[in-house]
Amino acid sequence: MKRIGVLTSGGDSPGMNSALRASVRAALALGWEVIGVHRGYSGLISEEFQRLDSRSVSGILQFGGTILQTARSKEFFLDEGRRKAVTIIKKNGIDALVIIGGNGSLTGALKLHELGVTTVGIPGSIDNDLYGTDMAIGVDTALNTIINAVDKIKDTASSHDRAFIIEVMGRESGYLAVMSAMASGAEFAIVPEVPYDIKAISGKLRRRYEEKRSNSIIIVAEGATSAYQIEKELRDEIGFETRVTVLGHIQRGGSPTVFDRLIASQFGYFAVDFLNKGGSGKMVGLVKDDIVFTPFQDAISRVRPIKKELLTIMELLGT
Ligand code: F6P
Repeated sequence: MKRIGVLTSGGDSPGMNSALRASVRAALALGWEVIGVHRGYSGLISEEFQRLDSRSVSGILQFGGTILQTARSKEFFLDEGRRKAVTIIKKNGIDALVIIGGNGSLTGALKLHELGVTTVGIPGSIDNDLYGTDMAIGVDTALNTIINAVDKIKDTASSHDRAFIIEVMGRESGYLAVMSAMASGAEFAIVPEVPYDIKAISGKLRRRYEEKRSNSIIIVAEGATSAYQIEKELRDEIGFETRVTVLGHIQRGGSPTVFDRLIASQFGYFAVDFLNKGGSGKMVGLVKDDIVFTPFQDAISRVRPIKKELLTIMELLGT
């Protein structure tokens, strides 16, 4: 009988619980034993373990956050911390680890794999910055949260003839900004991948003001610059009064959407199936409707380019 550990690490994302449930139940169906590791790599080093049975993951599929809790462990990113983790994994007879998280978490998974630990990764991060999957768990829910907020902001913006600069998450990726701008009918998205032209933005906003449009919306990815900086650059130039909203961690919470529940359930199942077939060192993903496995090294280092035409289309539609 195999004994596997499951952990969630880095920033939480809606749907992590659905992935946990799926991997636990898929492993139990193979007759394996499952250890839930609390608080990510920190909990691995301090042996915060809990045996999980089928009932332990009952009724969690629909909850945001992660029942295992999560952390960004500083200790694990030092050689000594990682060696300690390997010793603990061996001491507890853990044959393989399922690691649910984003870029930093899968970097940790790669290190463990290189140290001889059997690992499989499940992409869970609202940023959608991992290569090897069209969508990571939590992205769809975060987008829905953002557009619900933007819809509400538009109500007040148009009641006051205001331009709103709205900051969304995305440390190195403009995915959330572009997609939410397109889906909410915003006029601009400012993203880390493309330098922004403040003159072009202010020119278009000024024209909208002169045409007596009631509002304008600019979505800024936090990785590009801050919404306050953009507001400073636009204020007094565009006619509209300006206001800033930073959506912050509200984007990471909430019940996962159907899409996130579906990919999380499949990722959990196929990650365990991959281990059962003797695999290690890869991340499960969904590419053009197919389940694929990508080496950790590629998943964390290859760039997932933003489709520039989406930016162009979004700006054209938001005239
Ligand atoms: O990586 C996910 C993410 O939500 C980023 O978008 C954001 O920059 C970061 O985590 C915030 O991290 P924390 O919750 O530690 O402030």
